[in-house]
Amino acid sequence: MGAGDRTRLVAAAVDVLDGWDAGHQGLFTFAQSPQHHGFYQRFGFWPRFLTAIMSRPLTGSEPELGWRLSAVDPADRPALVAGCAAVTDAIHPGLDVRGEIAAVLDHGLGDVVLIGEPDAPRGFAVCHAGPGTEAGSGVAYAKFAAVRPGAGAAQAFDSLLAACQGYAADAGAVRLTLGVNTARHEAYRQLLAAGFRTDIPGITMHRPNEPGYDREDVRLLDDWR
Ligand SMILES: CC(C)(COP(=O)(O)OP(=O)(O)OC[C@H]1O[C@@H](n2cnc3c(N)ncnc32)[C@H](O)[C@@H]1OP(=O)(O)O)[C@@H](O)C(=O)NCCC(=O)NCCS
Repeated sequence: MGAGDRTRLVAAAVDVLDGWDAGHQGLFTFAQSPQHHGFYQRFGFWPRFLTAIMSRPLTGSEPELGWRLSAVDPADRPALVAGCAAVTDAIHPGLDVRGEIAAVLDHGLGDVVLIGEPDAPRGFAVCHAGPGTEAGSGVAYAKFAAVRPGAGAAQAFDSLLAACQGYAADAGAVRLTLGVNTARHEAYRQLLAAGFRTDIPGITMHRPNEPGYDREDVRLLDDWR
């Protein structure tokens, strides 16, 4: 692909995002590459905090916590999915991963792990597991996870991490991987304390150059890859 093709491709992607009226746009790229930063700056994306792709090994004896959307009666799922949308909307109005949830369930890529009240999830994680998914062989990947903000969020985040590890071990994975923007400082520190270590430090670039939901107290996992 030539330089002109690359430029046209990114310009077309930006047109699509603008067409969707996406108020906050972003991408993940190499933290150590000024050439990549400069290339995306041409389109109005600016580097902010590092995003750490982290992982930790599993022992196979992780407890089962929370519950899974695939095990819920299909008639009861829409209310739970709406509960997940309420969690993300409380973090950043308009943030909505219902498409990711549907993709994982419809294509059998993994599951959605839930914690909290049966009719009002406190937190959830959209997980891939195994070959043929974004996780890969022997791995589970929390592609997105979030906990409703407010009192008790730190404890709920620890519970959600534990529930993801239980799901991952049950799915036969030997490793759980996930991503966090380090501007979500409290989440990043909780991950380190829970034994996660960084495998890949990347950078997220934002258009416009605003924090979005990368705030200190936001307990949310994603990596924008
Ligand atoms: C990333 C990629 C598209 C950049 O290609 P490019 O636009 O031809 O790269 P350039 O050399 O023109 O550099 C891009 C910009 O970074 C700037 N730049 C390069 N090195 C820099 C440095 N050390 N400090 C500051 N700016 C720098 C350049 O001046 C240029 O800015 P400009 O718009 O003002 O001219 C190209 O390297 C590529 O295709 N790589 C392989 C595929 C890939 O990595 N895709 C992206 C995955 S996230």
